[in-house]
Amino acid sequence: MGRIIVLLFITIFLHAEDFITQTEYAKMLYSNPRGIGCDSCHGKKGEGGVLATFNKKGEKKLLKAPPINNLSLNEFRRGILKQSPVMPSYFLTDEEIVSLYNYVHVKDQNSSK
Ligand code: HEC
Repeated sequence: MGRIIVLLFITIFLHAEDFITQTEYAKMLYSNPRGIGCDSCHGKKGEGGVLATFNKKGEKKLLKAPPINNLSLNEFRRGILKQSPVMPSYFLTDEEIVSLYNYVHVKDQNSSK
């Protein structure tokens, strides 16, 4: 049921470009693409984040999602398309990838960065 609702929302988002701005569209895409938000791993605006900590042979290790707001469009695209043991595969159109790329490069109006 939840999955169906998510799919419905995504369908709506994909057709929502006409009545919402590019940034709003990209924000929704970033936080809920195909049900798994980039933000849950890469941080609110692509600054990267720690996914988990674990012990390996008594040593504390971090599993991190790298920052993605410092890449070229090509690196960004390649990073999304390549297979990863951690990051899910997304089937995004090039337009969506460009939207996401632009989104992590838009500075929030009221953020200090
Ligand atoms: C489950 C956590 C997770 C989610 C969700 C996730 N990523 Fe990732 N992402 C990673 C990890 C971890 C890596 C590092 C590559 C690896 O370990 O294989 C990565 C790598 C990347 C890279 C390449 C970074 C580089 O330096 O080359 C890009 C670009 C990227 N992700 C974009 C995205 C976008 C856009 C989304 C949403 C559509 C997303 N990711 C969702 C965990 C995630």
